[in-house]
Amino acid sequence: MITIAMPKGRIFEEAVELLRKAGYRLPPEFEESRKLIIDVSEEEMRFILAKPMDVVTYVEHGVADLGIAGKDVMLEEERDVYEILDLKISKCHLAVAGLPNGKVNGVAPRVATKYPNVASSYFREQGEQVEIIKLNGSIELAPLIGLADRIVDIVSTGRTLKENGLVELERIAEITSRLIVNPVSYRMKDAKIDEIIERLSLVIGDE
Ligand code: PRP
Repeated sequence: MITIAMPKGRIFEEAVELLRKAGYRLPPEFEESRKLIIDVSEEEMRFILAKPMDVVTYVEHGVADLGIAGKDVMLEEERDVYEILDLKISKCHLAVAGLPNGKVNGVAPRVATKYPNVASSYFREQGEQVEIIKLNGSIELAPLIGLADRIVDIVSTGRTLKENGLVELERIAEITSRLIVNPVSYRMKDAKIDEIIERLSLVIGDE
């Protein structure tokens, strides 16, 4: 039995579609139920449904052998897991954004983000001193309400920025979802895991 940690939310549907393309017979229950553990006995797979940021934690602790995690999550925290395959789904990018002609109050601009480590190291590399404000979501709200001068966040279609009158200022990194594995699992269950990698590789898009 292989346990796979799946991220609930945006990536989920694309990840399920990719697994189905690879020939894994996942029941309709996947999209419909609110169960957090789904066993697919004919594939000898158990799926656990976690918050995207927590997927890596389940894999790192070995309670999940494999996981699907965004590169954004991988960049934010260094963790003891192997990134073994770029699934090339859920494409987006990390960017700095703000109000057009936004003025900075004070010496260090305040930057709101869900990714404090990524943001700190980015601005450090740029030689720019900033104050990081950690938020958990709806980051675009921060500059609108005066909490921050800029944000560092995921941009996918760009709609959220546009509809809130914000503009992208700098592009930080390209993001896609990755297949990650627990190092011990990879040693113990290498045949099964290699088979999954192979089957997924065959159906991953070229772009
Ligand atoms: C993400 C991201 C942006 C938005 C970008 O948020 O943080 O807010 O999607 O997508 P777009 O460019 O297609 O508009 P998400 O909806 O995952 O929720 P969150 O704000 O709670 O993090």
